[in-house]
Amino acid sequence: MISIVVPLILASFAATQPAPKCCTVDQWEGFESEVAGVVPQGQQAVVIDAGMAVHYDGTNQKIAAEGPVTTGGQTVNVNLIQDYSKKLQYVIINSNNCTKSPLGNFKKACVPGDATLMGNYYFGGKAQNLPITAYQMIVQNLQVQVGVTSIGCYPVEEIIVGQTGGVDVSEVFNFVNITDGVKDPSVFTPPAICDTAPFTQNVQLPPGSKMFRGRGFLTL
Ligand SMILES: *[C@@H]1O[C@H](CO)[C@@H](O)[C@H](O)[C@H]1NC(C)=O
Ligand SMILES: *[C@@H]1O[C@H](CO)[C@@H](O)[C@H](O)[C@H]1NC(C)=O
Repeated sequence: MISIVVPLILASFAATQPAPKCCTVDQWEGFESEVAGVVPQGQQAVVIDAGMAVHYDGTNQKIAAEGPVTTGGQTVNVNLIQDYSKKLQYVIINSNNCTKSPLGNFKKACVPGDATLMGNYYFGGKAQNLPITAYQMIVQNLQVQVGVTSIGCYPVEEIIVGQTGGVDVSEVFNFVNITDGVKDPSVFTPPAICDTAPFTQNVQLPPGSKMFRGRGFLTL
């Protein structure tokens, strides 16, 4: 009797958090482009343009991204390392300025269970096409749309629109050239300048290198 009751209790507990619609493979890397328009309250609109190499290691709970971020015509090179196993984030600007800040819990790269299925479509046409499944969800007031490959759940596109903390946000992300695995795990190792880096609660990232990204598919 007991052996039947216990699994039932566990099952109903698990049901309160709906299972993700789908998750990526545990380790992958690729290239993410971002174009965003951000309007802080009472200020001028800022256009952000970024292209980052992204590395995701769900097994060891680490995410890294590096590449140029252009904000209002000014470009800085950003290297972001999130080590959730140590709950530490490193932000390295132009290879010479490192700050450390705390991180919350690791969130696997999944389409959450409470996302709404928007539909299926494909990129391309008759000669070649890529089936996509799109979902919609609200995360911290922002409307998030994500398109993933119908097979494999690889992220393809993501659109984040709305207003949060008095800031109007419209962001478009595209993911390309994704490969399984992480070729060089040293991308998760912070450079030596981070050994003595200051620890801040509120790291001031260049707009676009973080912004409202945490609402979407990755927590970058
Ligand atoms: C590093 O960045 C912080 C925060 O933006 C800034 O206060 C500091 O002056 C910078 N340090 C260097 C060496 O550029
Ligand atoms: C994507 O892959 C193609 C084909 O291998 C390559 O030519 C291109 O440079 C890659 N682009 C990026 C942004 O990684």
